Amino acid sequence: MEFETLAIHAGQEPDPSNGAVMTPIYQTSTYVQEGVGRARQGYEYSRTKNPTRLALENCLAALEAAPFGLAFASGMAATDSVLRLLDGGAHVVAGDDVYGGTFRLFDKILRRYGLVFDFVDTTDPESVAAALRPETRLVWLESPTNPLLSVTDISAVAEVVHAHSPRTLLAVDNTFATPYLQQPLRLGADIVLHSTTKYLGGHSDVVGGAVVVTDPDLHARLAFIQNAVGAVPGPMDCFLVLRGLKTLAVRMDRHAENAAYLANALARHPKVDRTLYPFHATHPQHGIARRQMRNGGGMISFTLHGGREAAIRVAEATKVFSLAESLGGVESLIEVPAAMTHLSTADSKIAVDPGLVRLSVGLENREDLWGDLANALARA
Ligand SMILES: Cc1ncc(COP(=O)(O)O)c(C=O)c1O
Repeated sequence: MEFETLAIHAGQEPDPSNGAVMTPIYQTSTYVQEGVGRARQGYEYSRTKNPTRLALENCLAALEAAPFGLAFASGMAATDSVLRLLDGGAHVVAGDDVYGGTFRLFDKILRRYGLVFDFVDTTDPESVAAALRPETRLVWLESPTNPLLSVTDISAVAEVVHAHSPRTLLAVDNTFATPYLQQPLRLGADIVLHSTTKYLGGHSDVVGGAVVVTDPDLHARLAFIQNAVGAVPGPMDCFLVLRGLKTLAVRMDRHAENAAYLANALARHPKVDRTLYPFHATHPQHGIARRQMRNGGGMISFTLHGGREAAIRVAEATKVFSLAESLGGVESLIEVPAAMTHLSTADSKIAVDPGLVRLSVGLENREDLWGDLANALARA
């Protein structure tokens, strides 16, 4: 079946007890057992397994064209669980443009447990190859990245990683693209990660995360970690993400239509210095983006000739775009990453330009959105 059909139906049979079409919110922590140690259909405790969560996990797997999905309490909980696959002393090569919270987890917490990180430009597969060591066990990248929207050729990096060692895994944070735009496992990645808080949930009403894999052994190890560590989402949160997924394809098409329109308008505006949008002709990896992604997505970043002060004035002046962290909801958001989502990268090797403005382009009317931005830019 095609993506749009899977998004609505995968993992979601009508409820066996009464035929409810929508997956019920199984708000239960435990399940009655048929005898000592004899659980019904494997359900014994909701940290381990819950029917609403299972429906979400199966739907997420189908959308990434893979057999196994695991849902987590947040994107960061999912990221943390993937890193717990590694033993102390392991080396990780990570992209030098990643979500600030991912950098904070790697640099401020996991380094204390003996993991060693190098941050490199993954848009250049040769930089990845040069950073690999005998003890490298994981390569971690985002594409497009948060916040610069850089695009990595996932197949090329997968080749480099797997030629290095069968023990080195490639993980792709697919939050910005969503499986509707690209399916990294099909391009050779071993692990796909999502903050379902963003486009998959799509309505800014839930925090969640997910991991999807193809290899049964990797799935078993991650499921063990998921249960042992316990960073699982509640059934209500799983229901909200499941409901969001049903409209993912139509939402992503409109997010991208609106974003492409605004990127063109921004690129022509005299106060705008650089416009970063994967499908815009001036994007440095424009060709790879067009090959690898179905459309350019809903995120745009830009800088202004007036630098940091101008960026802050614009971000504080919009009325339809709300000044807020996060992204991927139906409503448009604006932020200044260096001062907000990426504050934790300040003074680090991966610090963000303080004059960068990031837009999450929502589903409002595009003329209303451009009118709002044009008014704000007049104050820059
Ligand atoms: C690309 C990316 N990955 C991971 C995360 C973390 O997800 P969460 O906020 O759901 O923990 C975010 C959050 O902004 C993100 O943008």
